[in-house]
Amino acid sequence: MKIAVIGAGYVGLVSGACLAQFGFDVFCVDHDAAKVEALNAGRVPIHEAGLGKLIHDNARAGRLHFTMDLKAAVSKAEAVFIAVSTPTRRGDDAADLAYVHQAASQIAAALDGYSVIITKSTVPVGTARKIKAQITAERPDADFDVAANPEFLREGSAVDDFLKPDRVVIGTEKKRAQEVLRKIYQPIAMTGAPLIFTDFESAELIKYAANGYLAMRLAFINQLADLCEEVGGDIAVVAKGIGHDKRIGHHYLQPGPGFGGSCFPKDTKALAVTAREAGAPFSLIEAVVKANDKRKLDLSTRVTRMLGGSVADKRIAVLGLAFKADTDDMRDAPALDLIPALTAAKAQVVAYDPVVKPNGVSAFEGVEWAKSAYAAAKGADAVILLTEWNEFRGLDLAKLAKSMRAAVMIDLRNLYSPTDIAKTPFAYHSIGRQAMGPSSN
Ligand code: UDX
Repeated sequence: MKIAVIGAGYVGLVSGACLAQFGFDVFCVDHDAAKVEALNAGRVPIHEAGLGKLIHDNARAGRLHFTMDLKAAVSKAEAVFIAVSTPTRRGDDAADLAYVHQAASQIAAALDGYSVIITKSTVPVGTARKIKAQITAERPDADFDVAANPEFLREGSAVDDFLKPDRVVIGTEKKRAQEVLRKIYQPIAMTGAPLIFTDFESAELIKYAANGYLAMRLAFINQLADLCEEVGGDIAVVAKGIGHDKRIGHHYLQPGPGFGGSCFPKDTKALAVTAREAGAPFSLIEAVVKANDKRKLDLSTRVTRMLGGSVADKRIAVLGLAFKADTDDMRDAPALDLIPALTAAKAQVVAYDPVVKPNGVSAFEGVEWAKSAYAAAKGADAVILLTEWNEFRGLDLAKLAKSMRAAVMIDLRNLYSPTDIAKTPFAYHSIGRQAMGPSSN
């Protein structure tokens, strides 16, 4: 089967490479000439575990192609995935569908033989139906169906999530389209994952509902952590205590600096807009958006309070910039709120991340870049753990403390336990637990 994937971004690349791995003949299309050239030369533009090898192996086997020629890619393709980005629209926080409709138009012009056009990008409820109407209007003669097939990939484990998902959601209207999708996902069905066939609207809503619900858990645990800081109690124990209740479970209960990334912030905002426009305001999700935005904006106040009321002229090492570990993605990362606020308050920030490169992020103007956690901490008045990279979990704390001007650690990911810290000279601040001073050790 020939498959076209429009958009060689995060979702398109992972989906394209995994579909090629199933043995399909996959054409990934992108309008960015430099990206296509890099991919054809074997260079993968994103940091994602296992993706490089998958792309390399399948390209070499002749099953995975990168091209700018959308017409040739779509022609005679039985399935065409739309995997372009749907960023937050400036002004109203809705999902911007300009790229989706542009892709649909180009696909319409290129259709040649029966194709199922599948939305893989996260799109608001109603989009599949709109695409169907758009293509019908632009190409009344075309033989096609539409399907809504949202992805649930987490950055850092996207390849695994694609190959071994909890479920695959497919919204279609026609049996013929269902059969094409069934064939595509047969290798996944064989692993025991359910294929959920449903209508367009349910499929589209499932994606927003899943992300909205998970984001809501995070907002909940983060505010509960704030409460622990005020009234006592240890959020890790509280989370464990509620998580053992089978109706709740343990996942997505790790408190932190606020959620970021390419999905939760964007999708919660878009869901709130959709619900408002539909006359069914989702006040719960609106509260999640507000709480999380505020949490990130307040990070510098939190840090300043922990550092005794001022950060001016303090040298602060920030360890980890990516929105979470195992990715180089900076989209909506807490670092983008925290670091500019610290530099504005005249702190001297020195940053280190295992994969994020300093170039080009204007929020990081004036920041010094270090090549390791230890180099960043040298001479610092405090070290902030901002991303949960594994390499920060096993730091030699005695060595780190010794090289600092003041041994203060602000652990915004709770990577260390109070017992670990009690053996060190660090004054320690974390999320949802009481601060520990060296004197109380
Ligand atoms: C998410 C969804 O999980 C995925 O299904 C969807 O397709 C895209 O959005 P992703 O953004 O890659 O994936 O990351 P995820 O691991 O879900 O984390 C999202 C945010 O929540 C990050 O900022 C992370 O640091 C934060 N998080 C996650 C916590 O703070 N605590 C947790 O317990 C889990």
